[in-house]
Amino acid sequence: MRAVVLLSGRGSNMEALLRADLPVEFAAVISNQPDAEGLAVATSLGVAIAVVDHRQHDGREAFDTALAAEIDRHAPDLVILAGFMRVLTADFVRHYQGRMINIHPALLPAFPGLHTHARALAAGVRVHGCTVHFVTPEVDVGPIIVQAAVPVFQDDDEASLSARVLEQEHRIFPLAVRWYAEGRLDLRKDATVRVEGVAASASALISPPPDAG
Ligand code: GAR
Repeated sequence: MRAVVLLSGRGSNMEALLRADLPVEFAAVISNQPDAEGLAVATSLGVAIAVVDHRQHDGREAFDTALAAEIDRHAPDLVILAGFMRVLTADFVRHYQGRMINIHPALLPAFPGLHTHARALAAGVRVHGCTVHFVTPEVDVGPIIVQAAVPVFQDDDEASLSARVLEQEHRIFPLAVRWYAEGRLDLRKDATVRVEGVAASASALISPPPDAG
């Protein structure tokens, strides 16, 4: 299976994917930001990089057309949005429907959009997390593949909470890509996803936890 990764910044999720020993050929890492840190990381791991700079294109449609041309040059089976911070046009998303996935730093459908950790803290939620989902035209909405939940501690700030969530992002994103590569994701007509061959586990995360005594 061939995959292309899109990013805009640091690239820690991309790095987690590249290091996860997946049955996937990473054909290219593409960024809309020429100075994205993730590009250097991809190069150091031996993966081809490309830049499609949104500032060099007149409007969303022109940018998305150029981006799709660059992606399709690599003929990927899967397009992976790993911290890609651009809103995509509906035509672009439809072109990759069912073969484009995204990671979002919140338990969707809670906290779509930006600044998820600050908003989770402000809302006082006791459980937060991250979501891998198929991409549909509406931003941060789309059939959910896998989620990881973490506790929110009473003394958390944005940095501590985002670090706890990111650690889980680095676990569930490779998991989702592996399931996709193994043909184990069944995207149903009702926009739900079934993962073939996973065991049920009923352990609950209670936050704050019950008293130990
Ligand atoms: C990640 O936390 C990812 O979930 C988030 O951007 C960060 C990128 O970090 N994505 C979004 O907010 C998309 N809506 P990374 O570049 O180190 O992977």
